Amino acid sequence: MSKRTLGQLEGVRLDGQRVVVRVDFNVPMANGLVTDDTRVRASLPTITYLRERGARVVLLSHLGRPKSAGDPKYSLRPVVRVLEGLLGLPVTFLEDPTSEASVGIVRHLPRGGVALGENTRYYPGEEQNDAALAARFAALGDMYVNDAFGSAHRAHASTEAIAHLLKPAVAGFLMEKELRFLGEAVNQPVRPLVAILGGAKISGKIDLIAALLPKVDHVLIGGAMACTFFKAMGLETGLSLVELDKVDLARQLLADAGAKLVLPTDAVIAQQLEGGVPTRTVPRDAIPVGWAMYDIGAASVAQFAAIISGARTVVWNGPMGVFETKPFDAGTMGVALALAATTRTGAITIVGGGDSAAAIAAAGLENQVSHVSTGGGASLEFLEGKELPGVAALDDA
Ligand code: 3PG
Repeated sequence: MSKRTLGQLEGVRLDGQRVVVRVDFNVPMANGLVTDDTRVRASLPTITYLRERGARVVLLSHLGRPKSAGDPKYSLRPVVRVLEGLLGLPVTFLEDPTSEASVGIVRHLPRGGVALGENTRYYPGEEQNDAALAARFAALGDMYVNDAFGSAHRAHASTEAIAHLLKPAVAGFLMEKELRFLGEAVNQPVRPLVAILGGAKISGKIDLIAALLPKVDHVLIGGAMACTFFKAMGLETGLSLVELDKVDLARQLLADAGAKLVLPTDAVIAQQLEGGVPTRTVPRDAIPVGWAMYDIGAASVAQFAAIISGARTVVWNGPMGVFETKPFDAGTMGVALALAATTRTGAITIVGGGDSAAAIAAAGLENQVSHVSTGGGASLEFLEGKELPGVAALDDA
């Protein structure tokens, strides 16, 4: 069922209203500084829309997985600076978003003012989806917007329980965009629809492969997980990462998928995973004992690129090799270039978050694909066809 969105709230007065916006500011940090502000920038359309209509905007987010309340390593305070720079206005930090003091501060925000609450995971009730904690968060607002697509697979107090307490409870613009791109790609795709799946382990992608196989025209498999399929085909895999307990399943998937499932035909191999070590490119049935596959080879890249260029919709999740270590980035970069090229010819190309988003950014091509999801686990679960609790709890359209 489709969900009510912020853009559909015509007739609802926003001027002067206190709007609690759940954002996903779970951003990478180093030495107390934000090292990638992508997720903060992605929330700007919703924040700006609300501000322009005179709302008082109260942002809530988690950061990391703190073990103890108040661990300074997980404070959201460094994000205040980033937000202030992007918005060009002062942002009020709520040290304790569950306190009466914070309720008072928010009431005194000017129209168009913005406040950011401290890490929602400092409170044990957050991950327990505790209604009492949700009520404390809800006391900060008159209505609720969920723009945290990256956290929508979590049923937490600030993503799920709160949506039952603060009404209206609607999807923000980022949430709407993510659900539209990912939803249309798998449910009403312009065909051919091609999925490119990679990463180290097949175990993390089993549900995804099973969910996508009936829908797609091709699944291209890269990354070390291809080696579990090679094993299932009876090939020597040397020192490559193989999940032995998944070999039977891989054999079953090969039988069920037939020609839809496309595996690499060659592999870049080395005796150890280190930059600058001697490498060889060999056919997939010639991986010697003592060597491991760390990337797909050039012939596989060419084969994948040909299929990608014929696709009209492409969904990519997971790198083709150990792209953080050169020269094992070539396969991933080759696929990223193929995605950008097919986008230029009008295909809809979607990169699922996490590693593949980092890879397309490392290739400098993030603006040359149709959509890079801000969700890692959330995009995976959505593509697997699972219901996202943070979405389900919102008002129906
Ligand atoms: C993410 O980065 O995938 C989201 O912010 C969710 O974080 P989590 O896996 O710690 O719940």
